[in-house]
Amino acid sequence: MHSNAEPLPPEVLIPADRLQRRVTELAAAIDRDYQDSRRLICIGVLKGAVFFLTDLIKQIQVPVAVDFFQVSSYRGSTTPGELRVRKDIDLPVRGEDVLIIEDIVDTGYTLRTILDMFRFRGARTVRLCALLDKRERREVEVTVDYCGFEIEDRFVVGYGLDFDERWRNLPYVGVLTPAQSAVEKAAQ
Ligand code: IMP
Ligand code: MG
Repeated sequence: MHSNAEPLPPEVLIPADRLQRRVTELAAAIDRDYQDSRRLICIGVLKGAVFFLTDLIKQIQVPVAVDFFQVSSYRGSTTPGELRVRKDIDLPVRGEDVLIIEDIVDTGYTLRTILDMFRFRGARTVRLCALLDKRERREVEVTVDYCGFEIEDRFVVGYGLDFDERWRNLPYVGVLTPAQSAVEKAAQ
C-alpha cells in the first residue's frame, strides 16, 4: 500500500555537520597516502556516491581525475554479485591509481565485483572509499580502505542513498520510520 500523504522525514542517524567533518578527515588520509601519486582516478559508483564524491574530492589536494561507473544487479539471478555494467568509465585505468568511491557496502557483492574488474584491467592500485559500512551484513570479503562510518543493519537514506529514488537529497543520513521500513521489506 502506498499512501499519498507526505511521509515524515527520516530520523537523523548521522547529522550533516558530522558527515562533513568525517569527509575532511577522509580527504586528509587520502592526501597523505597518495602524496607521491602522479594522479588519482576517483571513480564514483552511480548514483548514490555522487553526493559524497563531490564533497570529498573538493577537499583532496593531490591531482585527481573523476569518472563514473554504474552497475545493476541481475534480479532473479542465481549467482549473487552478477552485475550488468550500465555505464562504463571513459578513462583507461592501466597503470593508474584508482579509488572507487561508494555510498555503502552491504553484502559486499557489488564492490567485490567492481574492485576485481579494475584490478583485471591493470590498474596500478585499486582502493575503496565508502561513506558507510554495514559490516555485519558482509557475505564476501571486501576491504574498505577509507570508511566514513560503520553502521548497524538498518536501512538508511539521504546524502545520496535512496529508497526507491527518494530521499537522496537529504543533507544528513537518516533511517526510515518503522512504517516506511515495512514497505521496503515487503518490496524485497
Ligand atoms: P552490496 O552488493 O550488498 O554490498 O550492495 C550495496 C548496494 O546496495 C549499495 O550500493 C546500495 O545501492 C544498496 N544498499 C545497501 N544498503 C542500503 C541502505 O541501507 N540504503 C540504501 N541503499 C542500500
Ligand atoms: Mg550504490
